[in-house]
Amino acid sequence: MDRPVVYLDNAATSWPKPPGVLEAMTECLLEYGANPGRGSHGMALKAGRVLLEARQALARLFRVANPNDIIFTLNTTHALNIAIQGSLRPGDHAVATAIEHNSIRRPLEAMRRLRGVDVTYVRTDEAGRLDPSDLAAALKPNTRLVAVAHSSNLLGTVLPVGEIGAITRPRGILLLVDAAQTAGVLDIDVEAMNIDLLAFPGHKGLMGPLGTGGLYIRPGVGLEPLMYGGTGSRSEEPEQPEVRPDKYEAGSPNTVGIAGLGAGVRFVLERSIREIAAKERMLTRRLMDGLRNIPGVRILGPEPDEERTAIVSFLLDGADPAETAFRLDREYGIAVRAGYHCAPLAHERAGTLGRGAVRASPGYFNSEADIDALIAAVEELAKRRT
Ligand code: ALA
Repeated sequence: MDRPVVYLDNAATSWPKPPGVLEAMTECLLEYGANPGRGSHGMALKAGRVLLEARQALARLFRVANPNDIIFTLNTTHALNIAIQGSLRPGDHAVATAIEHNSIRRPLEAMRRLRGVDVTYVRTDEAGRLDPSDLAAALKPNTRLVAVAHSSNLLGTVLPVGEIGAITRPRGILLLVDAAQTAGVLDIDVEAMNIDLLAFPGHKGLMGPLGTGGLYIRPGVGLEPLMYGGTGSRSEEPEQPEVRPDKYEAGSPNTVGIAGLGAGVRFVLERSIREIAAKERMLTRRLMDGLRNIPGVRILGPEPDEERTAIVSFLLDGADPAETAFRLDREYGIAVRAGYHCAPLAHERAGTLGRGAVRASPGYFNSEADIDALIAAVEELAKRRT
């Protein structure tokens, strides 16, 4: 069986995609699949318009005044690398949290090694809750960047980004937010939250295809690009143009992917974050309530009545998480992710380093029946184990 009956791995990438996403991608390939910004013929102009419309939809979603302050990337990791490598210089200090994904941790560690950047990881409790005053206490006179996940991809904890922004902005420190698990499912207002840099995936909550993502860069924030090259603009000049988005978008873009992403964002705007969040909260609550009643199950992260994203990581006493995930897939047709989820720091906080966990992540298209199928399967696995 290639296709699972129940897909519960939306934190890795959302599936299925809204029909409009497939239609937009097919239309792009069939009807105007030319290279945008690299020609003045009608097909290239149409491709350019589709990119602009996707930027405009994203700007509406994140309350960005100028769509050109949003640049397209391959994924969140790519966006985080532009922000981290583009902002940190020798002698700088950077702050992150003790639950960061490797997409923040590894670029920061590379900056420590390559540029001598000083890095501090602020402690959280075992459920990933962060006290903003601990973060404030970690700041130094040379702190240039605070980089935080909006929500842990292991624990589902939501970090107080607005409160962090109120600490960083008056001090002139850049706030970089990793919205890998929150774009499209939690309200993000870059102005109200004082976010300087917002890295987001196109292929998770925004419902676009894999290979899409983006970075919002606040006006006035000067980052050195990660890549230099052709932009289709000011081609006679040897230097990368300063104008956005061109400065950060060297090379031919993923037009077909961005066409799909634009349709995904329009779907989110039409349904509304409120409706999507309410559905995901209901499914998450149902899953946590069901799993909590199974003897031998331990759920990681905050309590069900706290703010949480649709991520439920758990352990079954005496069972290897990888084996549990394998059996859920092969015996029950349920797709979940096991292991470290590229987040060993969060596992360290949760006390699961060395073991890992099983992660179920419902999405907007899951039903209550999907959740019940997982609960029933875990119940059976728990019984068979004893
Ligand atoms: N970072 C993604 C996850 O948590 C891929 O699965």
